[in-house]
Amino acid sequence: MSTRPVIAVDGPAAAGKGTLARRLAAHLGLAYLDTGLLYRATGRRVLDAGANPRDPAAAEAAARGLNPADLARGDLRGPEADMAASAVAAQPGVRAALLDWQRDFGRTHGAVLDGRDIGTVVFPDARVKLFVTASAEERARRRWLELRGRGAEVAQEQVLAELRARDEQDAARAVAPMKPAEDAVLIDTTEMDADAAFARALAVVEGKLSGA
Ligand code: DC
Repeated sequence: MSTRPVIAVDGPAAAGKGTLARRLAAHLGLAYLDTGLLYRATGRRVLDAGANPRDPAAAEAAARGLNPADLARGDLRGPEADMAASAVAAQPGVRAALLDWQRDFGRTHGAVLDGRDIGTVVFPDARVKLFVTASAEERARRRWLELRGRGAEVAQEQVLAELRARDEQDAARAVAPMKPAEDAVLIDTTEMDADAAFARALAVVEGKLSGA
């Protein structure tokens, strides 16, 4: 490998892409960036300011003012943060504000980045592109187990409805919608556990990086 590669891992919420991307990065000795955190922290800053996440000026100002401490906050998950992230992410000004930062991160040392538009917009020439997905029902089941594990009382149907609403918003937006890049390899984890998904992804990555 001459230069350290950028690996794009895109897909819908709760498909297992975060776990997979983190593990790939550790295995390959690359940096890892959860790009969803940038949108989550932006959404949280808008809520803190008492503004509406759908207000373009407020959302862009929040994105431009992001600092590392915002990304380390403990309140970036949960239904309110999920929907605020998805709402700010639909706005061109927000996406433009976060683009260079993501590119610099990946270019500096090579990295595994997970998100929705890494293979299509942020790094269209990434050496490897994975699109990790699973059925909505299975993703809702996993997210529900995770929420219950953290002591949250929520119905599985509610989790499914929220996931569907967010998928729809992320896939239907005009700028950088969630979709597989033409040259992405699809990994459907509906019937896979985390180890099986990792083994499959690593085989794809090794094949691509060796030029196969
Ligand atoms: O991956 P996540 O669930 O933490 O992402 C939260 C929201 O951020 C998601 O609903 C859509 C948005 N997002 C995006 O538009 N582009 C990315 N590269 C990552 C996330």
